[in-house]
Amino acid sequence: MNNSQKLAEDILKLKKERKAIILAHNYQIPEIQDIADFVGDSLGLSQEASKTDAEVILFCGVHFMAETAAILCPGKTVLMPDINAGCPMANMITLRQLKEKKKQYPQAQVVTYINSKAEIKAESDYCCTSSNAVKVVQAIPESKEIIFIPDKYLGSYVASQTKRNLILWEGYCPTHRRILPEDILKKRALYPKAEVLVHPECIPEVIAMANKVLSTSGICRHVRESESEEFIIGTEIGILHQLKKKNPEKKFYPASELADCPNMKLNNLEKLLWSLEDLVYKVEVPKEIARRAKRSIDRMLEIV
Ligand code: 13P
Ligand code: SF4
Repeated sequence: MNNSQKLAEDILKLKKERKAIILAHNYQIPEIQDIADFVGDSLGLSQEASKTDAEVILFCGVHFMAETAAILCPGKTVLMPDINAGCPMANMITLRQLKEKKKQYPQAQVVTYINSKAEIKAESDYCCTSSNAVKVVQAIPESKEIIFIPDKYLGSYVASQTKRNLILWEGYCPTHRRILPEDILKKRALYPKAEVLVHPECIPEVIAMANKVLSTSGICRHVRESESEEFIIGTEIGILHQLKKKNPEKKFYPASELADCPNMKLNNLEKLLWSLEDLVYKVEVPKEIARRAKRSIDRMLEIV
């Protein structure tokens, strides 16, 4: 038995003792995806968190995801193996900046991407994820102005799909920003039969070249159902493990090997074991912020 197998065995044993569940995002390292109870996108992970009867949720992703789980499961212990795993996009808007924007557009509804801090969700009307942002915006009457934060690229994609004039914020994901149109051109030349699937956090020029624009779990689902045998994947490269594992007969090519999120890669098996041993690092959201943030998440869940 090698070191990883031994660690995985110890984690699974302790997980039972602690009555814990392991949730992992599609971008986590392969060893973590392989021992998780559920691997998914932001929407799937929050839905899974909200329905679990486990006492402890070991959340392997980034901080805003664990925070969302804490908001949805007030009585449970939510742990992150590495508390420094943040999302730079979520830090691109502050509460003060959002309040100023709201003052500028007092009649506007605020739609907030789930990649945001709890206090920002608390100040919003609706939450959304990459898989339902279009539907959430479509559900808001056309007469209403909409402030869409913090991702300007997801926002401009949603604007193009809904033909709505959204008030955007200057946030973006540095990891998806590294995927360039020339990367897609290069890979298309090498693999002309491959379908190009990209995440809506990509820049508009990349989105315009894609066959499909999908959330991470949307990409996994589409690959399973598609008759194509080859795919160029325009999102964080951690997802390739899940794709290859579930579709061993198909071929996958990352649009860019540079799309590697350093925050998602902070977790490893050693940290998972320590986390379960010492019950660290607890993610807690102050009650009143959680109550108001939950309202915007619930409004999203009602729509989808
Ligand atoms: P998904 O909800 O599509 O998994 O996206 C989360 C994320 O952080 C993408 O960078
Ligand atoms: Fe945040 Fe981008 Fe990393 Fe997703 S890939 S967690 S949006 S930095």
